[in-house]
Amino acid sequence: MAIRLGDQAPNFTVETTDGTIDFHDWKSGSWAVLFSHPKDFTPVCTTELGRTASLKGEFTKRNVKAIAVSVDPISDHKAWAGDIGEVGGVDLNFPIIADPDRTVSSLYDMIHPGEGDTSTVRSVFIIDPANKVRLTLTYPKSVGRNFDEIIRVIDALQLTDLAPVATPADWTPGSKVIVSPTLSTDDAKAKFGADKVEEVKPYLRWTPQPTV
Ligand code: BEZ
Repeated sequence: MAIRLGDQAPNFTVETTDGTIDFHDWKSGSWAVLFSHPKDFTPVCTTELGRTASLKGEFTKRNVKAIAVSVDPISDHKAWAGDIGEVGGVDLNFPIIADPDRTVSSLYDMIHPGEGDTSTVRSVFIIDPANKVRLTLTYPKSVGRNFDEIIRVIDALQLTDLAPVATPADWTPGSKVIVSPTLSTDDAKAKFGADKVEEVKPYLRWTPQPTV
């Protein structure tokens, strides 16, 4: 069954390049980006995993752990790790799950047979510290993901969890945000400052990004 936003992220115990991991124990207290790729030793996947390794500092700053999955065996993952480091310029620094029996791929509905074969498509699950699924993305095998977007959406989720705001189209950190529809304009002015709330429509009120 498909996983929906707000669902509890299913737990699993699997073999990874960092040893056996119980997913919920491994991510305990952290956000997680769980993402699948179709196959080891393929070009797009190599760039994606290299990019993820290069973002380790950005993930850590945000209390996020990355973990990749594919249906290839652990021996392939380990043999491929050197290429990921060589191509991306940073050694592999997060676990890759070996899922030859499709445990994780099935739990998270990562195999879409219409996409060609029985390997995983490019799924992304952003999971919060309470193990709730907060964002899903699905890309086809031929299109590599934009990891700046993954960081951006983590920033937006963490901001909107802490302040009664929402982020507009194409928001980037530091730019203005939208007052949550749950807040009246009077309450928004009391919270953010009378001169900090611009009402364009009764339902569209801008405010500078609050400090949280
Ligand atoms: C790749 O990672 O390059 C790739 C994998 C499967 C299908 C197409 C491309």
